Amino acid sequence: MIYQIYPRSFADSDGDGIGDLPGITARLDHLAELGVDAIWLSPFYPSPQADAGYDVADYRDVEPLFGTLADADHLIAQARARGLRVIVDLVPNHTSSAHRWFDAALATGPGSAERQRYVFRDGRGPDGTEPPNDWQSVFGGPAWTRVADGQWYLHLFDPGQPDLNWDNPEVRTEFLDVLRFWLDRAVDGFRVDVAHGLIKQADLADWQEPQEILSGPETDKPRPPMWDQDGVHEIYRDWRRLLDGYPGERILVAEAWVEPAERLARYVRPDEMHQAFNFEYLLASWTAPAQYAVITRSLAATDAVGAPTTWVLSNHDVVRHASRLGLPVGTARPNGIGIGDEQPDAATGLRRARAATLLMLALPGSAYLFQGEELGLPEHTTMPDEARQDPTWERSGHTQRGRDGCRVPIPWEADAPSYGFGPTDASWLPQPPVWAEYALDRQRGVTGSTYEMYRAALRLRRTHGLGRGTLEWLSSGDEVLAFRNGGLVVLTNFGAAAVPPPGGELVHSSGPLNADGSVPTDVTVWVRPA
Ligand code: GLC
Repeated sequence: MIYQIYPRSFADSDGDGIGDLPGITARLDHLAELGVDAIWLSPFYPSPQADAGYDVADYRDVEPLFGTLADADHLIAQARARGLRVIVDLVPNHTSSAHRWFDAALATGPGSAERQRYVFRDGRGPDGTEPPNDWQSVFGGPAWTRVADGQWYLHLFDPGQPDLNWDNPEVRTEFLDVLRFWLDRAVDGFRVDVAHGLIKQADLADWQEPQEILSGPETDKPRPPMWDQDGVHEIYRDWRRLLDGYPGERILVAEAWVEPAERLARYVRPDEMHQAFNFEYLLASWTAPAQYAVITRSLAATDAVGAPTTWVLSNHDVVRHASRLGLPVGTARPNGIGIGDEQPDAATGLRRARAATLLMLALPGSAYLFQGEELGLPEHTTMPDEARQDPTWERSGHTQRGRDGCRVPIPWEADAPSYGFGPTDASWLPQPPVWAEYALDRQRGVTGSTYEMYRAALRLRRTHGLGRGTLEWLSSGDEVLAFRNGGLVVLTNFGAAAVPPPGGELVHSSGPLNADGSVPTDVTVWVRPA
């Protein structure tokens, strides 16, 4: 079980309203108590923060907002001392426009070797005033920006994130060296950002479709020319060879928004990465047939290549599942929720989120949690738009709220300034008043709290070996799913009517059972059969 830390929003040691590495180190005991196996840290490298640190200006140092390289070393050592493994984020698709390479590319001009590290092209139209192709940025607006001498550079994300040219051997050598830098500092692995984007179709052909980060399901339609090109795999084979030369188990995890599962599985073939996030699972509707289909398909696809299946419900890019699941079943994935939007039902959302979590944590494979979900945190769905910082909001012309609502600094203490996030009231995104109810100190030791539900689930997952188990379906109807794994029977009731529990001893449940022992709507139970 891997726990994602978003450094800006986890814990702030110096009171500037932005979380930092010493803040994380001071809270490691919480993670050990919760029962996580590994932490994944979102980027903490020097960065102008045009995309909250996913715009990296130097891959071998620490952003002063977050601390120093010595703080990173200390964090890694302290995590290790508690038996926690550490995975860091690697952002190879693009650098920051403040990276020394990009400065050199601008300084040297068209045709220079420095420009070949990025994707520079002349524009179209008589004076080259039109972008080289019609690609859109994932955050909205054109994916090209024109520089002073008239050429254009590609950025699939923000203009502050120029795409690297992975056909250039120099780029490949540089990243092997960056991997070595962190492996030598004893990290256990890397989460690879936008792993499906590094190679673009050579002709940079027009696409004519709205830009999405998803590669699109296998249909007779061509694959988008910017995603999931076959050439990416060679890069990961090189990286795998490098990691395999290091002592201990070092892993690569792909952030690849690739559909369908069979196509995603290509990233985790035996000589490539170790795991890939299962976004098809995250996107699946809260119905028994949809959940059954995605679980079955995910297991089959990774089994075919001998890799562990992964499961994820929340991260720093999506509406938190306690809110997503509070929208009517079947609602398309919103890109943020704000004032004036349909508001999720908080009680239904939390109830389903808890049931979904217990279902997920009973599945064989590797589960990923996002900081704060162990508190049942909802999305901040009424954040004032003026407070938003995700480039999506501006670049989409205020049509997509973006991802700030899931990135709000998390509450540790109900009655402290910034709910215990830091020593002052400062918080880089506003925290909603409901944070007091969700604070860790209101839940710790409280039977039935979301925090204690997670903690017990992680303990049982470990003692019953669920992560390494095998799933055997017992029921896959329209209303109820039930399966056996590692000596436990797990049942989720998606239907409107209560259902009888499986026979045996109840060892865990996502909510109270009815007085007659039946399992209510939107509840998951774990039972040890008699
Ligand atoms: C990934 C990150 C996201 C970031 C994007 C560009 O999808 O998870 O937060 O904006 O890549 O780096």
